[in-house]
Amino acid sequence: MAYGKSDAKSTSTAGLEEVLILLREDLIGELQAINQYQAHIDRIENEEIRELLEHIRDDEKEHVAEITHAISRIDAIQREKFAHDHTAGAEKVAVETDESTILTVGSMFGK
Ligand SMILES: [Fe+2]
Repeated sequence: MAYGKSDAKSTSTAGLEEVLILLREDLIGELQAINQYQAHIDRIENEEIRELLEHIRDDEKEHVAEITHAISRIDAIQREKFAHDHTAGAEKVAVETDESTILTVGSMFGK
């Protein structure tokens, strides 16, 4: 999958380290975007606008996944870490989680 125009046929090892740094910075931006859209969704009552922002927020979540996968392809240690669920009681959380129990920025602050 290619999104940008690039004539580069290969990247040196040092180049890949720089790419990883940039991807991690991009990942931060995508995560911050999700939080910002969610905060706005929680404050807006207009259903049409809320649905639009929810759609955009979900696009940002896809971007997080895409960047995470890109990082995983480049960084072998990160790939290994992603391969295992390191959260305690992950199976229990997965079973008990439903839409009504998912925390949002707004729900965490009583909205
Ligand atoms: Fe994005």
